Amino acid sequence: MKEVYLRQLANELEDLQVSTSPTGRRSYSVEDMHKIRKHLDQVGRGNRRYLPHRRDDEALQIISVMNFKGGSGKTTTAAHLAQYLALRGYRVLAIDLDPQASLSTLFGNQPETDVGVNETLYGAIRYDDARPMGEIVRATYIPDLHLIPGNLELMEFEHDTPRALMKRKVGDTMFFHRISEVLDQVAPNYDVVVIDCPPQLGYLTLSALTAATSVLITVHPQMLDVMSMNQFLSMTSDLLREISSHGALRLQLDALSRDAF
Ligand SMILES: Nc1ncnc2c1ncn2[C@@H]1O[C@H](COP(=O)(O)OP(=O)(O)O)[C@@H](O)[C@H]1O
Ligand SMILES: [Mg+2]
Repeated sequence: MKEVYLRQLANELEDLQVSTSPTGRRSYSVEDMHKIRKHLDQVGRGNRRYLPHRRDDEALQIISVMNFKGGSGKTTTAAHLAQYLALRGYRVLAIDLDPQASLSTLFGNQPETDVGVNETLYGAIRYDDARPMGEIVRATYIPDLHLIPGNLELMEFEHDTPRALMKRKVGDTMFFHRISEVLDQVAPNYDVVVIDCPPQLGYLTLSALTAATSVLITVHPQMLDVMSMNQFLSMTSDLLREISSHGALRLQLDALSRDAF
C-alpha cells in the first residue's frame, strides 16, 4: 500500500494512533493497520479483500507443525506463521501443545508464572471436568491472533490416556479425536489454527495430527536429520494405520494452495 494512500486512509479514520518522527516519517501500529484493513473491507474499495476471512463454504485450516526431533525449528515456524497470517488479516489461533512451552514464552507468557492450572489445552481435552475452550483462549498483542498457552500440565494427557483407554465406555471420545472435538467449539471465530507440537510422537501429537488439515514438518537440510524425518514419517503412518483400524479415522489433509496466503 502506498504511503500517500495510507495517509489518506488514516485521515478518514479518527481513532488511529499514528506516531510521527521528527523527520516526518509516520509509523502505524499493528492495531492501526488492523483498523485500516477493517475499514477498507467495509467500504469495499476495489475487488481486493483486505480481511480475508473464510466464507461459510471454506473449512477452518488446522496446521500442525511437527517432527520428533527437538531443535528442528517447529516453534519458530509456528510463531512466525501465526503472526504472519494474523498480520495479513486472518483470524488465527496459536496453540502451544509442547509442555516445554517455548511458543508461549515467545508470545510473552511465562509457562511457570503466567499459566495456571487448566489454562493450557489440557484443561479442555482432559477426560474429566473439561473446561470450555472459550475460557482458555487468550488475546495477544496482535489483534485477531489468539493463544492457548502451554506448560508442564500438558504431560498429564500422556499419563491419563492409557488409563482412559482401559476404562473406556461406549460414546467416550478417543484420545485422537479430542483436539478436533474441542476446536469445533471455537471454529466459527477463526480462519487458521496453528499447533506447535511436542518433539515426540505421543498422544498429544497424534491428536493434533488427526485434527490437522495440513501438516508442516520442519527439518534441517542435513543427511542425518532427513533420515530421522523418514523414520518419523514411517512411524507416523504405522500409528495412523493402527488408529484408523480402531476408530474410523478420517484424516483429511487439504494441500495449501500456493496463493492461499
Ligand atoms: N529457519 C531457521 N533458520 C535458522 N535458525 C532457525 C530457523 N528456525 C529456527 N531456528 C533456530 O533453531 C533453534 C531451534 O528452533 P525451535 O523453533 O525452538 O525448534 P523446535 O521447536 O523444533 O525445538 C532456535 O535457536 C531457533 O532460533
Ligand atoms: Mg519447540
